Order: sequence, then structure tokens, then C-alpha cells
Amino acid sequence: MMKRDFKKLIEELHEEYSLKFPDSASINKRAKNYLVDGGSHTLRLIQPFPPRIVSAGGAWVKDEDGHNILDFWQGHLANILGHNPKLITEEISEAFKRGLGLQLGLTDKLQLETAEILCKQTGAERVRFTTSGSLATMYSYFLSRAFTGRNLIMKMGGGWHGSQPWGLKGVKYHSNGNGHYNYVDSEGIPETVTDEIIITHFNDTNMLEDRFKKHGERIACLIIEPFLGTGGLIPASREYLQSCRDLTERWGAVLIFDEVISGFRFHAGDLGSLYGIQPDLATFGKIMGGGMPVAAVAGRKDIMNLIGTEENNRVSFSGGTFSSHPASLLAAKKMMTYLVENEERIYPRLAVLGEKARKTMESAFLEQGIFARCTGYGNDAIPGSSMVTLHFPLDENASMEDPENIFDPSVCDVTLGRDIFTLALLLENVHILKGHGAVSTAHTEEDLTFLGRACQKVALRIRKYL
Ligand SMILES: Cc1ncc(COP(=O)(O)O)c(C=O)c1O
Repeated sequence: MMKRDFKKLIEELHEEYSLKFPDSASINKRAKNYLVDGGSHTLRLIQPFPPRIVSAGGAWVKDEDGHNILDFWQGHLANILGHNPKLITEEISEAFKRGLGLQLGLTDKLQLETAEILCKQTGAERVRFTTSGSLATMYSYFLSRAFTGRNLIMKMGGGWHGSQPWGLKGVKYHSNGNGHYNYVDSEGIPETVTDEIIITHFNDTNMLEDRFKKHGERIACLIIEPFLGTGGLIPASREYLQSCRDLTERWGAVLIFDEVISGFRFHAGDLGSLYGIQPDLATFGKIMGGGMPVAAVAGRKDIMNLIGTEENNRVSFSGGTFSSHPASLLAAKKMMTYLVENEERIYPRLAVLGEKARKTMESAFLEQGIFARCTGYGNDAIPGSSMVTLHFPLDENASMEDPENIFDPSVCDVTLGRDIFTLALLLENVHILKGHGAVSTAHTEEDLTFLGRACQKVALRIRKYL
């Protein structure tokens, strides 16, 4: 197949984009004098520059140039009720008026109340809060290694568990070499990480068995997102997740479900319970924090207790200066309570909207003869899903069920699906970062019609370059 040449299309997009977003362009120019690349999160710094946002409410955000932009990125998928839901903003502002909200550094009842809800909804016995999903997964590794007295961590190629030393192997797809995800994706990481992290294929039971046969007695933990997130929005098959449970039990390793994305995404609790599988530890973040920076490790008390005095504080898990920050826990408690109380109303609606978003995007491109497919669909364990990632497979029969295919440039047009699609959609006032997003309860049927029209315009624009 001839390599597609998008040079002209990218030039055209950059030119139009710079004309449409002049204020964001000039802010970006200034920002680059002080911030590396003009910002503090690499993913958000799209090329040639990101739109600078001034306010956000529900499904929409407003930028410096006065555009209203329909947002499906929704705070790295944290905002299940849309941006700045009154439920949370009012709760926090009321608390500030009462004298609770900013950093406390002392212990309060709020932690207990928030932990109670999290345990009840996830089957965990003990919880400890911290400030980011990255820290939560890092602590879950410390706990697993101390509990088992072993070193190795097994994870899925394409699995993203945050920016911490052991999280940075096996994230990005590499076209060449020995094992597409068998690389450490940052410099400056301890050299031991290369050997301590073993990569396996998502949804591949045979490979999992082989890995355990080969390394089982040295494996401290297996970490998996039951619904692979950054790796392509793919649910684990029932058979695969059950194998993860069975094999970790058989080999004496800790099973960690990373539920930073999936927690409270499909129902008011953990995704593991929809599969009927209880992990030993789970990590939570994003949705549970109600838009505030809060995350948690939750799980079996015999493992979690390694943090505590009973076990001589064998594992150091202090969570940081801002752990259990009052405003964060107020938001978390309010959000989780709301999702529990309104579960039957919220999740079926999100599932319908999610299905509609995926179908709308796929058909907008198909109508122009461009084969596009979405991931983000549920399966027999997950009745419906609010999530979506759009892909442009080069072969209509390519399987979209594993990250080996989705990020392989010989299987999917990755340039088109990530950078070009993001920019072309922004020109139509829709934001889906790298084609990856979710609907929130704030999205309406009209919003999805708007999305459909935007995708049609993008399809018309790119058709001539394919
Ligand atoms: C599955 C998963 N785990 C962990 C993390 C890291 O969380 P945070 O960004 O809060 O550090 C993320 C973030 O996107 C994630 O998707």
C-alpha cells in the first residue's frame, strides 16, 4: 500500500487553525517563554498550539477567542457529569464559607465518610487516599512487592498506569524491534525498571500462562485495567480477566485492577464487580474525585495493613502533603454519593449516548467512503459504555480488540486518527483529544447531532487526501 502523504493537509489545517484561534496563538507564544512547550501536560499541548480555555460548563468549554467548543475529552475522562457541575461547585463553595476546604494537614471525619462509600461500592476492606492515579499505582506496587517479597511487576503492553518509574515501560507502541511494547518510554528512569517490568498482551490468555510459567515465582503483581484505557478503550474478555484472577492466585501474586478510568464509569462502583471478580488491590482516581485531585488504593486489609503500625509501617505510603485534602474529599464524597443514589438513571443514559456517539462518528465517515471504527463498546460483562475512540483501519477486517493492532501504523492510520482528526474537529468546534473521549450526563442528543455534522465536515475535508 502506498504511504499516505498528509503534508499538504497538515499545512492547510495549521493555517486555518492559526487564523481561527489568534488569541490562543499569541498566548501560546508568550507561554513558551516560561513553560516548556507552553504548558504543563504534554498530551494537552497539541500542535501547532492548544486552544486556551477561559471557562467550562457541562458539555461545552469557551476559549480565549470566544468559541464555544463541544468537549468530549472531559477532563481526561474525569468529568462524568460534565464540566463544573453545580452539585460539586456548590458543595465546595459552601464548605469554604464554613471554614473548611483549603489544606488542613490534620485528620477529619470526611476521610472516614469517603472511605466508607468507596469500600461499600467496591468490596475493598481498607483504603488510603493520595493525590493522583500515578501515585496510587506506585503505592500498589510497593505493597505488592512487600507482601510477596518478590520484585517483578507484570503489565499489559499499551496499559497506562501513570507517570511513575514503573509506569513508563510498555506504554507506547514501537513499530520496530523485539516486542512492540517492550520499551521504557522515558529517560531518567532507574535501569532496573527495564528488567522488573514484564509486558504481556492484553486479552491473550496463552501468553499470560506462558509468562507465569516462566517468571511466576518472581512475580509480585499483575496490574491490569479491566477496560484498557489509553491503550485503545478495549474491555477485557471475561475469560481473560478470570485467567488473571486464577493465575495470580495459583502463583501467589497480587492482582491489581487499575480502575482509575473504569471506577464509577460503568456503574457506581468498580468494574471488577461487573465481571464478578474481586482483585487484591485496586486503584481509583478521576471520576471518584468529582473534578478534584484525589485518588486511592483500596483492597485487602492484610495487604493494606503493611502501611500501618500493626505491621511496623513496613511500606511507606504517606500520600503527600495534600493527601486527603478537604476540598478534594468533599468533592469525592459528594460525587460518589450522587452516583450511588442516581445509578439507575445515570448509567443507562450514558450507555445510550455513548452508543449513539460511536455510531454517529462511524457513519459520518462511512457516508464519505472512509472506513472508520470506534472502540469503547462494552461486552457481555459491561452492559453499555460512555467511551469512544475513533480509528481509521487500513483493512476493514482488522481486529480492533488489542492495542497491538490499534497503534500499528500498518493496520490503522494513526496519524489521521490522532493528530489530524483532533485539529480538524477543533476547526468545527469539537474537542476530542486524539480521537479519544467520552460522553457525560451533560451531553444531549443535540450535542451528538452537532458532533455528527462536525465529523461529516472533517470527512469531506480529508477524503481528497486518502
Ligand atoms: C488507568 C490509569 N491509571 C493511572 C492513571 C494515572 O492517573 P493520574 O493522571 O491521576 O496520575 C491514569 C491516567 O490517565 C489512567 O488512565
